Amino acid sequence: MDKIFSGVQPTGNLHIGNYLGAIKNFVELQNNTKQSTCYYCVVDLHAITVWQDPTKLKKDTLETVACFIAAGIDPKKSIIFNQSKVSIHSELAWIFNCVCRMGWLNRMTQFKEKAGKNRENVSVGLFTYPVLMASDILAYKSNKVPVGEDQKQHLELARDIAKKFNNDFEVDFFPEVEPLIFGGATRVMSLRNGLNKMSKSDISDYSRINIMDSKDLIVNKIKKAKTDSSVIMGEEVLDETGKLSKEIINQRPEACNLLQIFSAISEVSIKETLKNFEGKEFRLLKEALADALIKKIFPIGNEVRKMLNEENYLTEVLEEGAQKAKEQAEENLKEIKNIIGFI
Ligand code: TRP
Repeated sequence: MDKIFSGVQPTGNLHIGNYLGAIKNFVELQNNTKQSTCYYCVVDLHAITVWQDPTKLKKDTLETVACFIAAGIDPKKSIIFNQSKVSIHSELAWIFNCVCRMGWLNRMTQFKEKAGKNRENVSVGLFTYPVLMASDILAYKSNKVPVGEDQKQHLELARDIAKKFNNDFEVDFFPEVEPLIFGGATRVMSLRNGLNKMSKSDISDYSRINIMDSKDLIVNKIKKAKTDSSVIMGEEVLDETGKLSKEIINQRPEACNLLQIFSAISEVSIKETLKNFEGKEFRLLKEALADALIKKIFPIGNEVRKMLNEENYLTEVLEEGAQKAKEQAEENLKEIKNIIGFI
């Protein structure tokens, strides 16, 4: 039986990049793998590796949970909780701090990017971020982890930590962690610049479609989205695996991004999408895309708005989820402590 674990940072203002890259896949996993247990965790401990305003952190946590549920994650089928409610994550992270090597963390590209020139002044937590991530996953002995491309290196680290623990203590305790990288639009790019990832921190709100955007705003943003001056390309731009080739993504990043978003939102393969729009002007693709977004995203945003008025319901979901998560993690932690030699 698979154990699926994934984490999402509590960020307010969730956008279609968060939805297509993560949440939509969580819903599919929940619905397609009935025997598996799915843990979907709002990682508030990871969030505080950089400064968080307390009031906003609370609000963002609730908004993320509301978005999970509105998108179709069912708290009766999946375990939804926030990380700080299950203290085993932190406890196991300490143990893994003593398993993980400095050299391994020094190689993490995300840390290098996030710290930049400011290395002396970022939190120690930002450096050990991937160790906490390994403990999230391994506290439940999870073996499958749906993530975006950018988290692959962190998952390799989780595998290395699990392997070293097993080797050092001569046990076969932790499973091999396998990333589930979803195809299509796992990387949704900015609507203003196809080379940048869609991000809530982009100063231009027109660079992204937020889950809670109004219908008019969705239409306007898609209308204004950057394109190029050619007509839409055909199937010849697919590589042997049926994806848009690297060359075409480099040549026409904005065109590729819109096609990929359309394909993912409307659940039409990229091949079909190219067939349907080959030789046409972007105006037609944009109209279809705006319609698809209004059909799929707008109702989710509406649900989120409603649920945010039912704070008690959301906190109950988190409480119940944390209880279920704890049961499993406590059992595992007992064994881990015994293996290490803690009395
Ligand atoms: N680091 C992940 C991200 O930024 C979030 C995360 C935290 C996570 N813990 C996790 C993802 C465990 C998968 C498994 O996207």
